[in-house]
Amino acid sequence: MNYTTSKRIKRISVSQTLEMSKRSRELRDKGIDIIDMSVGQPDFPTPPHIKQAAKDAIDNNFTFYTPVAGYTDLRRVITEKLKRENNLDYTIDQIVVTNGAKQALADAILTLINKDDEILVPTPYWVSYAELVNLAEGNKKFIKTSIDNNFKVTAEEIEQAITPKTRILLYSSPSNPAGSVYSAKELSAIAEVIERHKNIYVISDEIYEHINFVGKHESIAQFDSIKDRVIVINGMSKGYAMTGWRLGYMAAPKWIADSCIKLQGQYTSGASSISQKAAIAALQGDNIYTMGMNQAFKERRDLIVDLMNEIPGFKTYVPEGAFYIFPDVKSYFGKINNYINIKDASDLSMFLLNEAHVATVPGSAFGDDDCIRFSFALGKSKIETAMERIKNTLRTLSE
Ligand SMILES: Cc1ncc(COP(=O)(O)O)c(C=O)c1O
Repeated sequence: MNYTTSKRIKRISVSQTLEMSKRSRELRDKGIDIIDMSVGQPDFPTPPHIKQAAKDAIDNNFTFYTPVAGYTDLRRVITEKLKRENNLDYTIDQIVVTNGAKQALADAILTLINKDDEILVPTPYWVSYAELVNLAEGNKKFIKTSIDNNFKVTAEEIEQAITPKTRILLYSSPSNPAGSVYSAKELSAIAEVIERHKNIYVISDEIYEHINFVGKHESIAQFDSIKDRVIVINGMSKGYAMTGWRLGYMAAPKWIADSCIKLQGQYTSGASSISQKAAIAALQGDNIYTMGMNQAFKERRDLIVDLMNEIPGFKTYVPEGAFYIFPDVKSYFGKINNYINIKDASDLSMFLLNEAHVATVPGSAFGDDDCIRFSFALGKSKIETAMERIKNTLRTLSE
């Protein structure tokens, strides 16, 4: 028997968080109370009117195959959302409904990248960007950002990174793992650079759009000079607490949308009929739930920033969106206690799990070895307990 997988599969890695999750489970099985700050999803249930729409969809027999690009009524509602909330004009045939934003990203990357094309990825980035580019046989070109600029890439840095092989700029705003939010001014400067380089496309991942603590969400698709080279990625997971429903979408130039529909048609077919009907209710319904979640995340953000500032050696900043904070922890590298020598963020993250019983994700998963990602998608008292435990545990380390 030949157990060798394809080169394509060898090119991608399994999630770096697996070891942490395994250890978390082992400790939980022993009855230890682990506070999970590694989570990547809202801790709120899906709002009731969305659940009701799904139940109605089942009762009304929306249980057959769906059109590959999504139900036309949902695609229309998405164009209305893009106009209402983002002032963006799209036609229905420019919208592709996908199995989560992740599939929209995969569709776009596989549609646009040829072997050895260069993809600009500001670091820290969301884990799957790197792996999807690997799958497409593209070359990642990382642009390291600084905590002092809230982990945002500048237009100048993008300009400097561009080569004749550059095909795509891929980023998220608000971002995972840093919670960076780009302003209209910053995006305008980036758009000017992209405008000058006619072969470059922008994949703008806006899945955290509704978790924004600084005001209105800005999309780079608002700049008409480059709109025909922008692919907007979005979905229901984060803003509507619908991670398990697997419903995302893209808004793109028609030729890109057509190609993604072609790919999806052979790969997964259309997204779930029930989730699509639920998404219509979400996008047309009262946004009071989304606003409520945003307010709760903002309060938790304020709390965690305050508490983290009291932890000696953690360099922090103020995340402007999403539900993560990504402090620089390198002042702990080289510290020891009687059984561990902290060499890097992975060691520190594992130490915090074993000793403080707080699960986090080391920055290496996001291309930045100096930091650790803490999710604040959990209740305030848990955040308080976690920060207290971490502070006390770190005291046991010495030079
Ligand atoms: C930046 C970013 N983009 C996309 C996704 C995928 O979202 P979905 O659940 O819609 O596939 C995530 C999920 O964690 C994310 O953090």
